[in-house]
Amino acid sequence: MNDNIKIAIIGYGAMGKEIEKAAQRRNIEVSEIFDIDNPISEAGKYNFDVAIDFSAPSAVMNNFRIVSKLAKNIVIGTTAWGEHLSELKAETQKSGIACVCDSNFSIGMNIFRKIAKTAADLANKFTEYDIAVFESHHNRKLDSPSGTALSLGDLILNSIDRKSEILIDRPNAAVKPEQLQISSIRLGSIAGTHTIALDSPADTIELTHSARTREGFADGAVYAAIWSIGKRGFYQFSDILDS
Ligand SMILES: NC(=O)c1ccc[n+]([C@@H]2O[C@H](COP(=O)([O-])OP(=O)(O)OC[C@H]3O[C@@H](n4cnc5c(N)ncnc54)[C@H](OP(=O)(O)O)[C@@H]3O)[C@@H](O)[C@H]2O)c1
Repeated sequence: MNDNIKIAIIGYGAMGKEIEKAAQRRNIEVSEIFDIDNPISEAGKYNFDVAIDFSAPSAVMNNFRIVSKLAKNIVIGTTAWGEHLSELKAETQKSGIACVCDSNFSIGMNIFRKIAKTAADLANKFTEYDIAVFESHHNRKLDSPSGTALSLGDLILNSIDRKSEILIDRPNAAVKPEQLQISSIRLGSIAGTHTIALDSPADTIELTHSARTREGFADGAVYAAIWSIGKRGFYQFSDILDS
C-alpha cells in the first residue's frame, strides 16, 4: 500500500465508485465508505487519514464539520454549496486540518481555465467580441449550472470590464450587454462538457473541454488527498497544480 495512507469515501455514488477505482490504481487503501444509509459520525472510531466527499450539496457542511472534529483532512468535490464557502474557510483555519475544495478536479479543466483566462483577457481588449458559456452534463446531475461553469463565469467577469453579471435563467428579453449568459443542458450520460464561445460580427471562436469519463476527476481528487497529508489550511486544486 502507498505509504500506508488510508482514504475514507463520503458519498458512494457515481463519483464515489470512481474514487475507489482511482485509489486502487495508486495502491491506496480505502478503509471507510460512507453513504446516505451509513453516514459518517462524530462518535465513530475510524481508521483513515483523509476523507474525500462527493456526496450532495445539503450534506457537505455537516460532513466537513464531522471530519474536522475527527481532526482528519478532507477533499471536497461536491458542488452547489457555495453560499457556505466563507464559513467553511474560517472553520478550516480554526480547526488545523487541511481542506482542498474544487468544482473540478481534472487536470485538463485546470489547463482549460488558464486558456479561458487568456481568451477573456483578449476579449476585454477586442470589444467587438461577445462571450457566453455553455455546459452539458448527464441527466442525473442535481445542480445547474455546474459549479465549473460558474467558476468559468467568475473568471470571465473578472477579466472583461464590460461584463458585470451572470445570467443563468432563460431570458424573456434581449440579453443585456453587461450580462454573461451561462446555459445548461442535461442529457444522457455526458460526463461534463464546457464551452466558452466568443462571437464577433466576423467570426466565432469556440473553446471546449469535454471530460470523456469521470476518471480524470477521481484521479485529481485522490492526488489532492495524498498531497494534503501534513498540510493545514484551505486550498483549491489549482493551488496544488501551481505549487
Ligand atoms: N469536483 C469535481 O471534479 C466533480 C466531478 C464530478 C462530480 N462532482 C460533484 O460531485 C457530487 C456527486 O456527484 P455524483 O455524480 O457522484 O452523484 P451521485 O451519483 O448522486 O452520488 C452522490 C452519492 O452521495 C450520497 N449521499 C447523499 N447524501 C449523503 C450523506 N449525507 N452522506 C453520505 N453520502 C450521501 C448519495 O446517496 P443517495 O443517492 O441515496 O442520495 C449518492 O450515493 C455532485 O455534487 C457533483 O456535481 C464534482
